Amino acid sequence: MNFSGPSRPVRTVAESQSEMTELILPNDTNTLNNLLGGRLMHFIDLVGAMAAYRHARTHVVTASMDHIDFIAPVHVGDLLILKSSLNRAFNTSMEVGVKVWVENTIAGTHRHVASAYLTFVAVDSQGRRVPVPCLEPENEEQKRRYEDAGRRREQRQKELAHKRSAKAELAAQGRV
Ligand SMILES: CC(C)(COP(=O)(O)OP(=O)(O)OC[C@H]1O[C@@H](n2cnc3c(N)ncnc32)[C@H](O)[C@@H]1OP(=O)(O)O)[C@@H](O)C(=O)NCCC(=O)NCCS
Repeated sequence: MNFSGPSRPVRTVAESQSEMTELILPNDTNTLNNLLGGRLMHFIDLVGAMAAYRHARTHVVTASMDHIDFIAPVHVGDLLILKSSLNRAFNTSMEVGVKVWVENTIAGTHRHVASAYLTFVAVDSQGRRVPVPCLEPENEEQKRRYEDAGRRREQRQKELAHKRSAKAELAAQGRV
């Protein structure tokens, strides 16, 4: 489905940039008092969705979260700072980049702990896919992210096509 056309509004990256800060409490942690990876992924999904909502101004669903590395542990009492911004808008989907830092409130230090790319798809209240506004990158950094997002989309599409054809083959053999 291709929704390209003159009627799509254009928005800037700044219009949807989002930030969220969380105080890490014992309920968020594992037996070593470090933040659970799944809880961090939940926060990443939320802050990513905020940027996608602000850009699309409609409902969004998470289509995928790319590979994620947990670079350093986050401890009870730390502040988790998450920032998200639109890298690129396609037809009904958008790539959002999320970067996460931890602030040690006692030492006053900041450390990068994780980054991720997520794809959100815009849908209406019936769950039908809808076109998203175009994204206008305004500076060199935003233009680089825009180009990189295009390359990552090509890679994702190849992987998706490969998975779908493998699944279709298994179905044809009656194995799923
Ligand atoms: C995401 C979803 C809407 C895609 O629907 P689909 O029928 O597979 O749609 P298509 O293959 O036609 O792709 C539609 C768009 O989604 C993108 N997309 C689909 N699967 C994707 C994936 N795994 N990763 C990234 N993008 C994806 C396509 O590139 C396309 O983008 P475009 O419109 O900008 O060109 C559908 O799979 C869905 O509803 N998933 C569940 C979402 C959800 O509930 N998320 C919460 C987590 S449980």
